[in-house]
Amino acid sequence: MTDSTSIVIFGASGDLSHRKLIPALYHLYLKGRLPKSFRVFGIAGRPWTDEDLRRVSRDGLNQFSRLPVDENSWDTFSQTLSYLSGDISRAETYHQINERLSLLEGGEANRMYYLATPPEYFLEIINNLAANGLLQEDDAWRRVVIEKPFGEDLESARSLNQSIHAVMKEKQVYRIDHYLGKETVQNILVARFANAIFEPVWNRNFIDNVQITVAETVGVGTRARYYDHAGVLRDMFQNHLIQLLTLVAMEPTSTYNADALRDEKLKVIRAIRPMNRDEIMKNSVIGQYRGYQQEPNVAPGSRTPTYAAVRFYIDNWRWQGVPFYLRSGKKMTEKVSEILIQFKKPPHMLFPMSGSDLEGRSNLLSMCLQPDEGIHLRFETKVPDTVAETRSVNMNYHYSDVYDQSAIPEAYERLLLDVITGDASLFTRADQSELSWALFDPIIAGWEDPAAPQPEEYEPGSWGPDGSERMLRAEGRQWLQTCGVHCEENHKTCDEKRVDPSRQQPW
Ligand code: BG6
Repeated sequence: MTDSTSIVIFGASGDLSHRKLIPALYHLYLKGRLPKSFRVFGIAGRPWTDEDLRRVSRDGLNQFSRLPVDENSWDTFSQTLSYLSGDISRAETYHQINERLSLLEGGEANRMYYLATPPEYFLEIINNLAANGLLQEDDAWRRVVIEKPFGEDLESARSLNQSIHAVMKEKQVYRIDHYLGKETVQNILVARFANAIFEPVWNRNFIDNVQITVAETVGVGTRARYYDHAGVLRDMFQNHLIQLLTLVAMEPTSTYNADALRDEKLKVIRAIRPMNRDEIMKNSVIGQYRGYQQEPNVAPGSRTPTYAAVRFYIDNWRWQGVPFYLRSGKKMTEKVSEILIQFKKPPHMLFPMSGSDLEGRSNLLSMCLQPDEGIHLRFETKVPDTVAETRSVNMNYHYSDVYDQSAIPEAYERLLLDVITGDASLFTRADQSELSWALFDPIIAGWEDPAAPQPEEYEPGSWGPDGSERMLRAEGRQWLQTCGVHCEENHKTCDEKRVDPSRQQPW
């Protein structure tokens, strides 16, 4: 197959394009990772010229680039950007796309079609591409990248998949979950399976519970038109949080191969214990930050949750009885994404302890996904000059101690490159997109039922509603956070990333 590749962005005048996609492509270009012959072709409704796209893209880079922009390389890169203003519902637009692209390509070329549009246009674009022969693979590949949300429930995801499969093969489809493109998320599997020390204790015999936190400080901002309909369970849990859970819980595969990995992840979701209505109420909590209802475009009296915490059990030999606590919310104390493995306490404590330490502390393994990327292990040590007093200390690995910050790529860099090289490991397969909805549909429906309790209000800048703490306290546990704490106590580069050093949680 040819190397020459066209990257076609539908919705090129939108936010995603200039914030993420163009900067990611530019960085790939700087690193020499793009094919020798490539071009970026943007399509949207706005009456822009090629120059407009270049100017807006440059503004985007100025604001969002993780590396300084190099003028010479920008000049050459920007020449690869072209734009077509067109109505995506009309066949004529697709003829124009083909004509312009063919001219630019000057021969056989692969095509990546990136759907960076609102979801209601996904199918229309795919059907039009197919009807106009633009998905036909002869001597070059045709791949379609679909942004989230992929459907809004099982039924819509299934129908979307069916319609897609009617016009193209699954191997041409790349459903994006940008969490999988994050370096630290990929590191979960490396930490688990490239080391011999973790796997033997990675099970119900040694692990007490697993906590996955994705907390954001931002509110709904200008996205309420979408968000007020979606809520946190659709926006974060059905995709990002469940992906993280599968990476923690899955079995090792024998090879690093897209289908093998995705098969194992699927098995985890299949093994998650389903819940009836009462169990949903007992095993989940939803909240809404104070002031949400006053945000622009939020419906009056909206019951949309901006926070949720869910307790799952995975019914298999490895995880039987180990609770997986997942939480995510907007307007929380700080931006932190963390996976925390709390190990069981020592079966017998022979050293003298006092007060709340009486039962001994447990070891914690924490994977900080952001902002202070790293891995931390908490264990007990003897306090010097005491008979046998113990103190928790941490072994810390911070990415920034080992690698220059500029070495950590943005998620979209990796994902765009994977599409070009045809590696679907970090993309959601059709069956997983559906299974994941099947898991969350009943939970969402349970809470959307008019008879269900209202979301609990929580203070902006807090750790969410009290009910979330109560859910864990009822079983003698608490939400733990180590990422920010380590950041605060031990690490020089963290200060600027922290929001408010005084707001720490005890752990
Ligand atoms: C998106 C959600 O998928 O992920 C947003 O739609 C959320 O609501 C975002 O803010 C969080 O991503 P990140 O990479 O900032 O953790």
